[in-house]
Amino acid sequence: MPKILIQREKKEFVPELDRKVTVTKGRQYFVADSSRDFSTSLGNIKAKDMNAKDGATVKSTQGKDFVILSPTFIDLYKRLRKLPQSIILKDIGLILAETGVDKDSLVVDAGTGSGALSGFLAHLVKQVTTYEIREDFIENIKENFKLMGLKNIKVKQGDITKGISEKNVDLVTLDMPEPWEAVENSAKALKIGGFLVSYSPHTTQVQKFVKEVAKDPSLQILKTVELIERPWVIDEQRSRPDNAGIGHTAFLTFVRKIS
Ligand SMILES: C[S@@+](CC[C@H](N)C(=O)[O-])C[C@H]1O[C@@H](n2cnc3c(N)ncnc32)[C@H](O)[C@@H]1O
Repeated sequence: MPKILIQREKKEFVPELDRKVTVTKGRQYFVADSSRDFSTSLGNIKAKDMNAKDGATVKSTQGKDFVILSPTFIDLYKRLRKLPQSIILKDIGLILAETGVDKDSLVVDAGTGSGALSGFLAHLVKQVTTYEIREDFIENIKENFKLMGLKNIKVKQGDITKGISEKNVDLVTLDMPEPWEAVENSAKALKIGGFLVSYSPHTTQVQKFVKEVAKDPSLQILKTVELIERPWVIDEQRSRPDNAGIGHTAFLTFVRKIS
């Protein structure tokens, strides 16, 4: 059974700096098999200690404290093996919020890539079908879906621009270099009231996609947005945006099938 080990972060006051500094980083480890001892750079954790209940503190052989947790979906999701660039959480969040998909929704997605978006969607909706043109990505995708424990997701190896066999779907997501080539098939697959979302890093792609959507009177363009996430540093002395942050990821264009 997998487990998460989290070391508690520790801060101490350093008089020379006149402030508290982190003396122990809150390191986190993923234990794939808790029936065996697990080694960290701060000593081993005994298998018998990993049976402790969630939130319990256990000691490593070097006397360091670790908190034990059972992994949830997000812990498993963060272990995905990423081959092509994957969509990131801030953008997944916006897709979920703007389309309102839920446990009854049917979703079609392309290209699967590493399965980050399609896997997250499958965790929340009824059924996902995801298309991936690259045969050499399929094995990794299946491994990633297995890791996330998903059973309601079907991978189709093929080109989505050649056709979508699913009908009456609530959402089509396109994260591929030429999303405009899949607009016609997406419109046929969507139910009235369903959403089409395209995710593209370049404005030139967005323009081509929007131009293609505009040709179909059954589709209405809602908006194109870029979502900026800005982490902040907050402690006793500081309260300011972090020096490091997430830069540009992609533009999201939201479209609805209205007739
Ligand atoms: C940026 S990745 C997608 C990442 C994915 N959304 C994720 O979160 O892991 C783009 C993928 O689209 C695939 N692709 C490109 N054109 C395609 C097409 N016509 N049909 C299906 N997949 C396609 C590529 O092979 C690549 O794996």
